[in-house]
Amino acid sequence: AAPTDHEAEDASISQGVVESNHAGFTGRGFVNYANVTGSYVEWTVTAAAAGTQTLTLRYANGTAVNRAMDVAVDGAIVANDLAFEGTGAWTTWTTKNITATLKAGANKIRATAVTANGGPNVDKLSVESTDTQAPTPP
Ligand code: GCU
Repeated sequence: AAPTDHEAEDASISQGVVESNHAGFTGRGFVNYANVTGSYVEWTVTAAAAGTQTLTLRYANGTAVNRAMDVAVDGAIVANDLAFEGTGAWTTWTTKNITATLKAGANKIRATAVTANGGPNVDKLSVESTDTQAPTPP
């Protein structure tokens, strides 16, 4: 079954802007993180049941420098300093997988830049299970 997509442009954004000037994104655009430590995107993912899930972040990084981020679920880090390596161009998108346990109900999944370069451009978060519902708009 197809994973559920949660677009970054529909998530809660701290120190970042929605843009659409680099082709290849899904939805209406992507989030361009501010080039600072601590910029983040946070999705609310509602799971019908507790369980281990594969979370997939789709991103582009047109620089040659890793734009590492921490990924947390409800404040607990599930991927520390995860590398988001250069993809060759801002129009070249790729994915990074994380395994995490979600609880039944709402889960706050936050991807926070840990370097002064900020995060990569982030298109969406996909969640493996079909047991998820679309997020409530902010
Ligand atoms: C460029 C690019 C942006 C990107 C930014 C960055 O300005 O057009 O999409 O986010 O570099 O380095 O973060």
